[in-house]
Amino acid sequence: CVTVCVCVFVCVCFVGVAVDGPNKSTDINGNSMCLIKKKGKVKALDEELYKKDSLDLDEDLPTHFGLAHTRWATHGEPNAVNSHPQRSDKNNEFVVVHNGIITNYKELKKYLISKGYEFESDTDTEVIPKLLKYVYDNRENKAVTFSTLVERVTKQLEGAFALVFKSRHFPGEAVSTRLVSLRRNLNLRRELEWKRLISVSTMCFPRVNSAIIEHTKKVLYLEDDDVAVVTKGELSIHRMNRQAGEDPMRAIQTLQMELQHIMKGNFDAFMQKEIFEQPESVVNTMRGRICFDSNTVILGGLKDHLKEVKRCRRLIMIGCGTSFHAAVATRQILEELTELPVMVELASDFLDRITPVFRDDVCFFISQSGETADTLMALRYCKDKGALTVGVTNTVGSSICRETVCGVHINAGPEIGVASTKAYTSQFVALIMFGLMMSEDRLSHQNRRLQIIAGLKKLPDLIREVLSLNDDIKAIASELYKQKSLLVMGRGFNYATCLEGALKIKEITYMHSEGILAGELKHGPLALVDKDMPVIMIIMKDGVYTKCQNALQQVTARSGRPIIICCKDDSEVSQSAYQTIALPETVDCLQGILSIIPLQLLSFHLAVLRGYDVDCPRNLAKSVTVE
Ligand code: G6P
Repeated sequence: CVTVCVCVFVCVCFVGVAVDGPNKSTDINGNSMCLIKKKGKVKALDEELYKKDSLDLDEDLPTHFGLAHTRWATHGEPNAVNSHPQRSDKNNEFVVVHNGIITNYKELKKYLISKGYEFESDTDTEVIPKLLKYVYDNRENKAVTFSTLVERVTKQLEGAFALVFKSRHFPGEAVSTRLVSLRRNLNLRRELEWKRLISVSTMCFPRVNSAIIEHTKKVLYLEDDDVAVVTKGELSIHRMNRQAGEDPMRAIQTLQMELQHIMKGNFDAFMQKEIFEQPESVVNTMRGRICFDSNTVILGGLKDHLKEVKRCRRLIMIGCGTSFHAAVATRQILEELTELPVMVELASDFLDRITPVFRDDVCFFISQSGETADTLMALRYCKDKGALTVGVTNTVGSSICRETVCGVHINAGPEIGVASTKAYTSQFVALIMFGLMMSEDRLSHQNRRLQIIAGLKKLPDLIREVLSLNDDIKAIASELYKQKSLLVMGRGFNYATCLEGALKIKEITYMHSEGILAGELKHGPLALVDKDMPVIMIIMKDGVYTKCQNALQQVTARSGRPIIICCKDDSEVSQSAYQTIALPETVDCLQGILSIIPLQLLSFHLAVLRGYDVDCPRNLAKSVTVE
């Protein structure tokens, strides 16, 4: 018995499964396919699956061969009809699960409607099984194989996609493929690629490694234009348009991931577990890279390119969401240690602007998943311009990892919660280590380097100290959770903390939240401040301390009641505070690693008090693999 499952993941809103029958609606060959979709998590589907009535089964589920899928919507409302597998017709002749986007679905839909096909969902995906049925019904060769039909259909699709197909006409068989496509809406030739894994012991086609780690660590990666066919337990792979000399052999690789990393343990949510893992995850980022005796830092994945990096014209750091904030957080110290201009860029905007990039630029692509579509496309754009590309990812073997020339794995361990926490602090540490490596031979930076390295050594203990404030932060959350808005203000090294803290709050609590540069307060945000608007201010004893105190005065003068994140011995600012969250002090450029933690905890407690699913925020996905 063979299992073929797709995209199974733990925290999801819409789930679906298709398995070989038999059920009451068999075809003349006795074949049938059961399709069931459900709102809720995988558990809900699991329960439904074994209710015979819902599957229309005559007997117990007789097969372990099927497709399953979890979905965040890119097209259409997230409901059961729009979830996957999508089907060709009411008899489920062909079903498909899809990760990605079909950009020419409107034209295909129009054509299929003209041929009498009726559509039931709002998805782009639905054109695929319907097109497959159309090709099947109009085939000349009655003995055509399933994979040939799939190839014919995928040749008609534009966009970017990884697909797995099943059909009642081909029981016991599944076909999977992934494709590169041209993006015609840009002047550039941009390609989007999808990582697909096949685990070889049980034949799973998972979207993410964590979906299969419970069953196997042996995987092989499909390349673009590979067609993988599983028939009665046997796997074969061939090239869709085989060119001379192309090898369809794919090596089996072993995943470096443990099951305990993807279990919640004693925590209520993955996000909570990941927040509390940070004393260890930052150590894992530094492990084997910093020698605290000799004060040296070596990032193995970068050392062979260091000379080239040092000669560059500028550094460009590109990412999305939290990963972008890690770039903002470390920009200032990288400018200081490397003495190079450092640009920070949101990947989508960077591409929209068709930003000038030169051969002597070094471009960093920061991504927890290593699969974010905008970041990946920005990488291909920079590669095309001849820049040196550097990946900073948490996922070994990810697309960004594989396509960059060199890079750093942040080694934070799998991050499951949609809201990124430990990846942020590990990205932060990894980028600081890069700055330390770049400045190793600069005499003028030695004192600063020693100060930072000493700060990094103490970091895990200081993170533990901040985490011990959990109960105090929970108490603050219980005062704030009914509010509509929350402003987070700061500047200098902590501007990124404001952006990231506000992002955490909006992502999982659905409260409006803005990260505000305190230097911009008088240019607009001050108008929002009154006695009712909750304001969090980050005021640490660093180079912008006095300027932050000015901002504090502005807020209190408007009857604002600030909650102040400050150093624990700071009696001065705490006098003006409605509440304080007192943190241990560290080196200015590392302080952001500590100051984000109260905001991670606050967002967690706010979301719980507001009754939301922390790990599965509405409308958001962990890995955004579409533009
Ligand atoms: C999504 C996630 C965010 C993440 C962003 C970038 O929006 O919900 O948590 O920061 O993608 O992801 P990446 O994997 O590239 O870091």
